[in-house]
Amino acid sequence: MKPQSITILLTLFIRYILASRENQVILAPNQDTMSQGQGNSDPSLSNLHFTHDLVCNDVECYPLVFEPTNEWQIIRPGQQIPGGLDVKLNLETGLKEAKLLETEEISTDYEFTAQFNEIKGLLSNGDEQSYDEIESKLDDLLEFAHDYKHGLKIISHEFKFITENLSFNESLPFKLREISARLILSCLRNNPPVLNYINETYPSYVGDIFSELSKQNVLEVQILMKRYLNILLELISENYQFSNFEFGTLSNIYKSTNDKQIKLKLLELISHSLQEEHSVSNLQKRNELIDVKSLAQEFSTHIRDKSIDELHVRKFFNSLFNLKKAYPNDIKVDEQFLNWLAQQSEERKLNLGNQLTERDLEQDSFDQKLIESRHLLFGNPMANRIKHFEDEL
Ligand SMILES: *[C@@H]1O[C@H](CO)[C@@H](O)[C@H](O)[C@H]1NC(C)=O
Ligand SMILES: *[C@@H]1O[C@H](CO)[C@@H](O)[C@H](O)[C@H]1NC(C)=O
Ligand SMILES: *[C@@H]1O[C@H](CO)[C@@H](O)[C@H](O)[C@H]1NC(C)=O
Repeated sequence: MKPQSITILLTLFIRYILASRENQVILAPNQDTMSQGQGNSDPSLSNLHFTHDLVCNDVECYPLVFEPTNEWQIIRPGQQIPGGLDVKLNLETGLKEAKLLETEEISTDYEFTAQFNEIKGLLSNGDEQSYDEIESKLDDLLEFAHDYKHGLKIISHEFKFITENLSFNESLPFKLREISARLILSCLRNNPPVLNYINETYPSYVGDIFSELSKQNVLEVQILMKRYLNILLELISENYQFSNFEFGTLSNIYKSTNDKQIKLKLLELISHSLQEEHSVSNLQKRNELIDVKSLAQEFSTHIRDKSIDELHVRKFFNSLFNLKKAYPNDIKVDEQFLNWLAQQSEERKLNLGNQLTERDLEQDSFDQKLIESRHLLFGNPMANRIKHFEDEL
């Protein structure tokens, strides 16, 4: 190789590393134009399909956003790479690889060491004026928490302090506990490495939040309760199974509140655990507190709420769908729901037939599922057969 071409390669390599460290997320090239594999210049990406969180080739699917661990892993075609990772070109294979930064790199002093040391000092004073100062310092930190890299740093250095010494600390005023919980939430949102970090390093955190939520004084402060519910929404995955205690805690809150936003959050949280068909079978046996009839009733009522967006409609619908499938005889939906379903079916049929918009495969398959469920699951199966028969005439 000529020295000139080595320099160019080296420059490209360094630019790549800098880009991956500085930017929040590096998009795969032509991200928005290649859902059907058209219009992109890199031929290795042309046989890929993209959904909102997966990349699929003809053989398999893998996560759209690269999931870093402590080991070097190959970055697969089309994957997005979170910032704040170690990225290298493996010179033997020519493939790009990435991993989390070494612990030594993040356990020494970092940007916010001084701020947190001051907060720790102020906390031991325990007076009103110190609390005000802590609040304003946490408020400043919130500005950085949304940032991919800073969010991970704050959590990896201070998670234990922010939770145990601040947000769970019953001696502190609620406004301080709330802003501390908000700090964690901000770091967590849209930041998969933070999610992994908390999940792996503090697996008891979800349980700790449930015990907070079962305390009367926390329930009386709705704003703090909402923060905790939002944190749970980030942390709880689709195959999560609530214990009797956890489900009981959620349904107590549900029964005791008239706040629609809180009810919707609770339903969303429960719906996280009902998105997969297999997770719903034996639900009532596994969790004796769950009454599938009333749960289905709540989903079928709130799915008609005008204020909820498509994402919530899908989650609530999938939950109801899986519940009805697992308990066909116990669950009866009411006429208002059937009217809603009829109207939705018509709208979604139009959408499916629309040749002008670019296809969103996930949306299409959801629409199809909803339309078919109207007769196959929630209504008279014969009607669907007659309908098909008519279509063929
Ligand atoms: C945080 O709480 C632990 C006990 O839970 C205590 O040992 C530690 O000193 C506290 N840290 C600060 C900075 O207050
Ligand atoms: C809780 O806050 C009080 C009052 O500032 C403080 O003295 C105490 O150390 C804190 N508890 C923990 C576990 O940090
Ligand atoms: C957390 O980790 C457990 C296993 O360690 C896993 O089953 C679960 O899906 C993870 N949760 C999230 C939200 O990634």
